[in-house]
Amino acid sequence: MSNTLATRGRISLTRYLIERERSADGQAPLPPALRLLIEVVARACKQIAYEVGKGALGGVLGEAGTGNVQGEAQKKLDVIANEMLLEANEWGGHLAAMASEEMATVFPIPEHYPRGEYLLLFDPLDGSSNIDVNVSIGTIFSVLRCADGVAPGEDAFLQTGDQQVAAGYAVYGPQTQLVLTVGQGVAVFTLDRETHSWILTDDHVQIPADTQEFAINMSNRRHWDAPVTRYIDELLAGKTGPLAKDFNMRWVAAMVSDVHRILTRGGIFMYPRDAREPEKPGKLRLLYEANPMSFIVEQAGGAATDGRTRILDLEPTKLHQRVAVFLGSKNEVQRVSGYHR
Ligand code: AHG
Ligand code: MN
Ligand code: MN
Repeated sequence: MSNTLATRGRISLTRYLIERERSADGQAPLPPALRLLIEVVARACKQIAYEVGKGALGGVLGEAGTGNVQGEAQKKLDVIANEMLLEANEWGGHLAAMASEEMATVFPIPEHYPRGEYLLLFDPLDGSSNIDVNVSIGTIFSVLRCADGVAPGEDAFLQTGDQQVAAGYAVYGPQTQLVLTVGQGVAVFTLDRETHSWILTDDHVQIPADTQEFAINMSNRRHWDAPVTRYIDELLAGKTGPLAKDFNMRWVAAMVSDVHRILTRGGIFMYPRDAREPEKPGKLRLLYEANPMSFIVEQAGGAATDGRTRILDLEPTKLHQRVAVFLGSKNEVQRVSGYHR
């Protein structure tokens, strides 16, 4: 096949989304404003990918010298990625407000720009501790609707994950990829670095229900609750234990990368609550980490719980609320959730 033909047969992100505006198989059609919003987010992720790729040559590595509202030291790329997402999205006319891991409270759309009906949440740079060591990192985003007549303050963002109209992440690894759901399954786009476009490379992604691979930061074992210790000990016991099969372990320390592996070949990812900070229900944030990832995982046939409750059913009370996370291959998520009951 000639290059021209190969290019003509390719499905871009725009074409994929426009096909979803036409509504097939009884699915609700994707509103054009939501398509345009997703395209702007995807464009910002492309810009972030180029910044990430500059590394030491672009002076983007290292600490920013500032802290975020959660008491975490910000890396330069946390700040750069946050700025890029804000700048790309503030004037597009599709949003009422934005919220981010890196901002204490919500960012309303400035008065002089048109306002839209959506709310955008993001973790601009996920896996910050990987930046300076050149290991995969990502961006996570979630889109909610701002109900008519509701002021786009913090309260407007406190919706259950079930209300998300779109969610996705970009992974900046050996390949840059964009993973997206608009509630009609999960699609994967790969950034073509020659044409600078997102090209569909996988559609209808499915996570196998069973797995022999798990992801958890084992160094926290002594701080876990009993059900988690029991479950991990059973995994480690392998063939000779109650699960009667050997398990492999992976931990990238960037949720985006760990979830991406699980979408690709199955697995279970866990970041449980632990006794280091007993007042916090976990490390990961519900609204811009757990909810979008859980939406994607469920759309790919997997499951996501906080140990007891389906993550997408949790009623948030705070913008930066934390949550325990167990997600991935359905049968393993069900098993460890069962141990919590
Ligand atoms: P962020 O860089 O946005 O703060 O998120 C990092 C998160 C998550 O991506 C990852 O799974 C986890 O923190 C890693 O935590 P440990 O360093 O405790 O392993
Ligand atoms: Mn993160
Ligand atoms: Mn982050």
